[in-house]
Order: sequence, then structure tokens, then C-alpha cells
Amino acid sequence: PPLAKSALPPLAWSSWNSFSNLIDSNITMQQARALASSGLQKAGYQYVNIDEGWWLGDRDAEGHFIVDPKKWPAIAPGDKPGNMANIVRYIHSLGLKAGMYTDAGTEGCSIFPDIGPAYFHVGSQGHYEQDFLQFAQWGFDYVKVDWCGGDKANLSADVQYGEIARAISRAEQITGKRLYYSICNWGKQGPWTWGPGVGGSPQDIWRVSDDIVAPVVEAGPNHGRKVAFDKMLRNFDQGVHPEAQHTGYYNDPDMMVLGMPGLNAEQNRLHMALWAISGAPLIIGADITKLDADTLAILSNPDAIAIDQDPLGLQAVKVKEISSGLEVWSKFQQTPGLRAVLLLNRTYFPAPMSVDWADLGLEADSASVRDVWAGKDMGQLKGPFAATVPAQAGLLLIVRGSEGEFAHYKPDADISAGE
Ligand code: DGJ
Repeated sequence: PPLAKSALPPLAWSSWNSFSNLIDSNITMQQARALASSGLQKAGYQYVNIDEGWWLGDRDAEGHFIVDPKKWPAIAPGDKPGNMANIVRYIHSLGLKAGMYTDAGTEGCSIFPDIGPAYFHVGSQGHYEQDFLQFAQWGFDYVKVDWCGGDKANLSADVQYGEIARAISRAEQITGKRLYYSICNWGKQGPWTWGPGVGGSPQDIWRVSDDIVAPVVEAGPNHGRKVAFDKMLRNFDQGVHPEAQHTGYYNDPDMMVLGMPGLNAEQNRLHMALWAISGAPLIIGADITKLDADTLAILSNPDAIAIDQDPLGLQAVKVKEISSGLEVWSKFQQTPGLRAVLLLNRTYFPAPMSVDWADLGLEADSASVRDVWAGKDMGQLKGPFAATVPAQAGLLLIVRGSEGEFAHYKPDADISAGE
């Protein structure tokens, strides 16, 4: 039977990169509609994730998060302002899923200016059961749990995230709603060692690094967040923990900056290729209403998405370093003999690169090759395959040959290979 979609890396949009603490009902509805009208939903993107900034910073007398009724007003007649179930219902009405956000510690990341400069948003510590039940009751499908308060208080990440996983399970027992679990502790305390299946969670993702956007808040595009090509590459590098990843459990190199002011088309293609060969969550951080046709085509490229969403769930490994900065990466796909291959040129000059089919663990001397960004089948080719790769770019290929005897993945292994 086909795998449940929740076992594959999530495809989503998140509010943080482009809207930070300004996130509200209007922005969320607009982005959700754009996900649908842009064709991204059809391409597979399904979650609309609300990040930090949704609650008013504090709790009420019963310990519930206080929600600003002006930021989250009634959407339909009969709605109670300040009830997050309103926006969930709206997102669901478009056939999309809704994501929520909190922090594992007693404090959140952001200062809440209405209350005072030294006052941080409260986090969920001490309220795990209450909060995750609340999220499930509102109808959310997904929750990202940040680490600002945990970090400040020097908490043990595996313990806290394990407790939260149990709170999520209890909320499921009560409501029947399972929240998809996104662990956001920025690679602190090695989440690739305890993240996969933490606390018995049936699927989850864990952040492996700090934010891809610089956390500066100043005037300018991207709400003052800096988008840098080098930082995108660094997040990819920090995310390489192939031993930890398999179906249902994924390293998360952060939501993407693809399509945000700061990257050109070539860099956007490389960004998508790197996240796809990582089998990473594909979470759009750009303002979807501002994406041009080229960027939408990159984000919805069916081959790139299929590489990412391969049911085997493995991450690419570097199979060859031709010379410093010229690397060949290969991701095993479930179909025997199938590989997603990236010829990655990190240098500042165009470079001739090549790969032997044997480098990919393939046996026959010819293999079929598809160039993903050209959208072109190149036919059955004898190795070595050679191409000139532009500076700071990648050539993304789908290669199909015959599975070699010493391949890391044996076609008769079951889907949980890598565990
Ligand atoms: C840090 C996280 O890594 C970001 O993705 C974002 O959620 C911010 N915190 C929110 O303050």
C-alpha cells in the first residue's frame, strides 16, 4: 500500500522568514490562497505553518495562551474572535493542513514590545499537556516546538522533547488528532541521535542548525532578515546526518529562503536541489504572493519533488570529491538502480566534472540519465558522465542503471532500511 503522506518529508509554507511576528489571520489566509492558486498545492505542498508571533505573549488565569482578537478575528459568522480554530477551519476549507508553533522552555524567542522590552513570549514548559491538547482541539495538524527557553534554562533537549512527544500522544488519545512533530532545537545536543522517533513519536523532523536567515530585525526586504547563499549552503552541510534518516524521520536544515530577495535563479535551483537530495522538509519561507513564474517552476518541479519525496526517505551522501569544492552527491531512491545525483560546484569558476556509474554503486557500463532542470531525458549513456558545471551551481540528474552488488541499499531490504 502507498505510504501515508505524513511519513514523507512535509511540504509546507511557514510564516517566519517573511513575516516574523507580524503574522496574523489576513496574512495567513492570503498565503494559503496563494498556495492554492499558484499551483504549489497541486504540486504537493500541503501545510500552512504559523510560526512565532501568533499569541499575545502571556497566559490567562486558566493558563491558556492569550490570543489577540484583532490579529485573529472572526472569519465566518458565529466565529469567536481570538479563537485559533477559525483560521484552522479556513485553511482546511482550502484542502490544506494547519501548523502551529510554541517553545519547549518557559520563555519564547521574541521580546513582546507591548508588555515591555525585557518581556519574552511565554513558552510551553509547565503547560505541555494543556498546550498540545489546545492545539489539537483547535484542529491543528502540525506543531513546531522551538528551543529559545530551553536553551536559556540549559534544559536537556532529549528529555523535554520526549515529554512533549508524550503530551502530543495524550492529546491524540483525547481528540483523535495527531500533531505532526517538528523539533526545532537547532542541532543543539545532537538531535540526530535522539530525534528519530523521540518518545515513541510515529514520525518527526528535527532541525540540525541555526536559522538560515540572520535573526536581525531592521527595515528592508524580508522584514530585515538577511538571505545569504553561503548560509544556505552551510545549513545544507550541517544537515548531513544520513545515518539518522529514514522513512518518517528527517533531518531539517530549516525552512527555505528560496524565492526571497537575495538569491538568483541559479542559486534557487541549487537550493531546491540540495534540499531535495537531502530528503528534507520542503518548507517555503518566501512570501508566496510575490513569487515569479521561474521560482514557482523551481518549487513545483515534479522531478525535484519526487527526489525529495522518495519513500525510502534516505539522505544523499557525498560519493566523490573531485577536488576541493567539486563534489558528487548521490541519494538512493527506492526503485533499485535509481539515484538522484548532484554534481556540485562550490567554486567561483565553471568546472568540468565527471562521475563514473560505479561511483554510484551501479554495475552496467550504461545508465539512463535525466537532467532535472532542463527537463530532458538524455538517453542511455556510457560512463563516465561528464559536464561543465557553472560556478556555485549544481547539475541535478536522475540516473537509472543496474543495482550493484555492493550498493548500500539492497532492493530486498524493507522500507525502514537505515534504522
Ligand atoms: C528560532 C527558530 O529557529 C526559527 O525558525 C523561528 O521559529 C524563530 N525562532 C522564531 O522566533
